[in-house]
Amino acid sequence: MKLLSATLHARVGSQMLRCLVAAALLVALAGTARAESASIVLTGADRRPATSLNGEWGSIIDPYFSGLFSFHHVEKKNGWFMNYKAKPGDPFPTEYNFATAPKLKVPGDWNTQRASLLYYEGPMWYEHDFTYQPKLHTHVFLHVGAANYRSWFWVNGQKVCQHEGGFTAINCEVTGALKPGANFVVAAVDNTRLEDGVPGLETDWWNYGGLTREVSLIEVPETFIDQYDLHLTRGTDSEIEGWVHVVDGQPGEKVEIEIPELGAKQTAEADSSGHAELHFSVKGLERWSPETPKLYKVELRTGIDSVNELMGFRTVETRGTEILLNGKPIFLRGVAIHAEAPYRTGRAWSDKDAETLLGWAKELGCNYVRLAHYPHDETMLRAADRMGLLVWSENPVYWAIGFDNPKVLAKAKQQLDEEINTSRNHASIILWSMANETPNNPTRTQFIETLASRARSLDPTRLITAALLVRAEGNTKIVDDPLGQALDVIGMNEYIGWYEGHPDSADTTQWKIDYEKPVIVSEFGGGAKAGLHGSESERWTEEYQAAIYRHQLPMLNRIPQLRGMSPWVLMDFRSPNRPLTGIQDEFNRKGLISEQGQKKAAFYVLQKAYENHAVGKAE
Ligand code: GCU
Repeated sequence: MKLLSATLHARVGSQMLRCLVAAALLVALAGTARAESASIVLTGADRRPATSLNGEWGSIIDPYFSGLFSFHHVEKKNGWFMNYKAKPGDPFPTEYNFATAPKLKVPGDWNTQRASLLYYEGPMWYEHDFTYQPKLHTHVFLHVGAANYRSWFWVNGQKVCQHEGGFTAINCEVTGALKPGANFVVAAVDNTRLEDGVPGLETDWWNYGGLTREVSLIEVPETFIDQYDLHLTRGTDSEIEGWVHVVDGQPGEKVEIEIPELGAKQTAEADSSGHAELHFSVKGLERWSPETPKLYKVELRTGIDSVNELMGFRTVETRGTEILLNGKPIFLRGVAIHAEAPYRTGRAWSDKDAETLLGWAKELGCNYVRLAHYPHDETMLRAADRMGLLVWSENPVYWAIGFDNPKVLAKAKQQLDEEINTSRNHASIILWSMANETPNNPTRTQFIETLASRARSLDPTRLITAALLVRAEGNTKIVDDPLGQALDVIGMNEYIGWYEGHPDSADTTQWKIDYEKPVIVSEFGGGAKAGLHGSESERWTEEYQAAIYRHQLPMLNRIPQLRGMSPWVLMDFRSPNRPLTGIQDEFNRKGLISEQGQKKAAFYVLQKAYENHAVGKAE
């Protein structure tokens, strides 16, 4: 008995102790409890240890958003974010229950998970239970790789943040909302296209909605590194420069960078704003390139925080009409890629999706990919770093958006900042694209010039581009869009042989490009249904599409400033603009490969041209 009571006392004692600790934690956390805060950028979030929240989440479709707004559009206090557990005798009927609601896989768009949701545009609620043990002196962030298009987040019924933009990562601080043991997170995601959105109402891709990329909890210490940039100084192969930013550090906080393989270690002091500049020499660095995609382990440390990065070091610049990679002229043999998942379709997000898509690009003979028309997932950029593919990354300023609306400019800047500050350390990215096919008028030009100068100030180490529209005078194609003056590299889209003329129209087309700058043909091509065969003059056959490519290549070679190309498009992708029954069936069929992996004849035409360096000046 004695032993039992002693054990009992011990157990009660330790139980009491646990309660006291938990209570103390709660008090401590409450002290740090931050109400709703804005999402922050965490550079290299994917390199930090994380607790995955991926999996099946309860989901409730809410077309009228009545879970958040009562009549007269007033935000509710006890909305569906409360995950209210009905109790017997409750005065008010609870008319929703996440536990019994259908599930949605996270990550993943909802459109391809349920036939009834294929066309759905509107609010969707998600809920997920998780356990957590709060730690002292720790910030916890809810990390969402992307949520398309607007999103709101609550933890244990407390609003933690909201975000707009469907293709950049969200990092919500949730420290003050967490409690020991059982917790729950609720998200509302609304993919409704907005007149003042970025992109706007019109796109030629499916408006996949939902928590479309991975979700996790990331813990960082009280003082942590939120952003950093390390790169090779242009014109050198041994000077590394950059900066690290520390949050809540002490004045003079020490920052250390170590590259073990190079025996390099460098320290610097953060200034009062937490910014530490770095510049140091290394010996024996192997510069990153498509041929030698060398990545180094780089450890960034400050006090009690560290990030273990994987980085390549290279330089990119222009000289006249040349693009120089590591000081040498390069021709970008590329292809354009949408984030459409091969085989299963829907929004791509996984390593497997990335390796399949970029594996096809490598098989095509590419050294470059245009990741259209929005920032792709970090998995895609990590794969491009590993596989040696240069990247054109793009802010979704697409076609006609509200160029005259300051709110739209603010949204475009916010997404540009998030894109660059999240992904600035990928050696693969060499081009920041400001826009695609925007109408040539002074308001638009000023809007995008503002973005271009912002991109240059955020990242002077890369090249600024945009895909411009081309005009025609007879059979002369003219590129004289004034926006070109703000660009380092001129991107231009043309569809000779598809939207105009026939494949052999390219044979007699002349070009007049008013810029002595490098030019990338950022789109050309035509549609074909995989397996449909016929004569070269029959649209939608593989033979017709192959003929477009055969006639395009010699024409492109007549453009003296041509320094790259990214034909449209690697793989067929879903779009509501492409209904032709039996041929398109709501897929844009300009892919060189079908969404089921069937390579079309044009794939082999381009592959041969790349293999024989038949296009572009020999490097
Ligand atoms: C445009 C646009 C693409 C679109 C393509 C097409 O150039 O940039 O997003 O898919 O044309 O018409 O297929």
